[in-house]
Amino acid sequence: MSAPALDRSEPDPAVAALIAARPHLAMHARDGLVLEDVPLNAIADALGTPCWVYGAGTMRARLAELTAALAGLRAHVHYAVKANDHLAVLRVLAGGGAGADVVSEGELRRALRAGIAPRDIVFSGVGKTVADLRAALSADIGQINVESAAELAMISAVAGTTGASARVALRVNPDVDAGTHAKITTGRADNKFGIPYAEAAGLYAHAATLPGVEPVGIALHIGSQILSFAPYRAAYARAAQLVAALRAAGQRVRRVDCGGGLGIGYRDEPGAAPAAFAGALRGAFAGLDVELMVEPGRWLVGPAGVLLAGVVLTKGDERFTVVDAAMNDLVRPAMYDAWHAIVPLSAAAALRPVAATDVVGPVCESGDTFARGRVLPRLAAGDRVALLDAGAYGAVMSSTYNARPLAPIALVDGARWAVIRPRQPVDELWRAECVPEFLG
Ligand code: LLP
Repeated sequence: MSAPALDRSEPDPAVAALIAARPHLAMHARDGLVLEDVPLNAIADALGTPCWVYGAGTMRARLAELTAALAGLRAHVHYAVKANDHLAVLRVLAGGGAGADVVSEGELRRALRAGIAPRDIVFSGVGKTVADLRAALSADIGQINVESAAELAMISAVAGTTGASARVALRVNPDVDAGTHAKITTGRADNKFGIPYAEAAGLYAHAATLPGVEPVGIALHIGSQILSFAPYRAAYARAAQLVAALRAAGQRVRRVDCGGGLGIGYRDEPGAAPAAFAGALRGAFAGLDVELMVEPGRWLVGPAGVLLAGVVLTKGDERFTVVDAAMNDLVRPAMYDAWHAIVPLSAAAALRPVAATDVVGPVCESGDTFARGRVLPRLAAGDRVALLDAGAYGAVMSSTYNARPLAPIALVDGARWAVIRPRQPVDELWRAECVPEFLG
């Protein structure tokens, strides 16, 4: 994994350095850690911990930065809804001009509900069901990315029953290694995604003959948390070649969906630079006269979110720091060995002497570990910490494992903040369950 792993031998960055690298965060002597202009302690006082906090201004600024870098490219941002699908987040990004990339009927309905125009929605995913396709066609969304010959046939059949015509792009598997964690790489031939490169031209020609289907271009997405641009350049070069070959064969190709995957700096490594991304796009497609789409998720929202946790106790002579957030809230460390910065909320706590500790949650699994041997200011029961860069693939991947209700979410926008999801009441966990009568 090119992203930092859970344990590492290099010294951990100091709290001050972690905050200095994140312009939306500041440590105030009196108010403690502040996101945009709101002290996070005020939110934790009101909502308790664990609790998610997102910065709308930060998301807006990141979208504006990316959009500015893409200027002149005829490129449109389709935010990958899976990264954080909260309606308020979708509204913020739609307000900044983003469309949506969705992968289920649920995400499609969220995007529509947030006010994103159907034409600005693209539907990706390797196993769309007939119900998904019906929903996409009846909403008349902008584009469906097709991942197989079988799916193409399904789309044509569904379009036949509804009388609609589907604008489709063929998602091509460019067989490029994105150099990221094995669980989030998608563009290698042995990944389940996309149509093998060698079959794409034939399938495109076939699509053009099918009723209810209008091929408009090609799509690719090589993985997530990508920090180097060589894989992008390699994949885009193959995409550009394919566009040229298709056109030479007489096909119309209007669009290339270039996927997402831009990485962020979780530790002290710099995140992917929008200018470098734009450079990779320009290098491959500038001469081609195609519309471009990009589908970033993490890069737009990841840095803008934090997970607040309270320290329950320390044990084993401070070897373990047990917090009230757990793998059911933020699963990335357990699932990908992901490294998330951990910062105390109080300025006084941040100045304490440091010691190495394992930051763990209360769930009954050893994998419920946020950090191993992390060098942190010494923490004690009652302290609060923020796990940083948790705005993407955080709350969306939460579960209620161990009958832990979903944590509340607050949205900060400058100096204002609001609760955008209250803490789930415990009895809601079993509200939809029933015990059959034969059990007595
Ligand atoms: N487009 C497609 C077709 C995708 O599959 C994905 C992500 C994206 C766009 C957005 O990728 P991003 O820009 O966010 O990297 N849960 C994992 C990440 C899974 C990514 C899945 N696909 C994690 O927490 O690292």
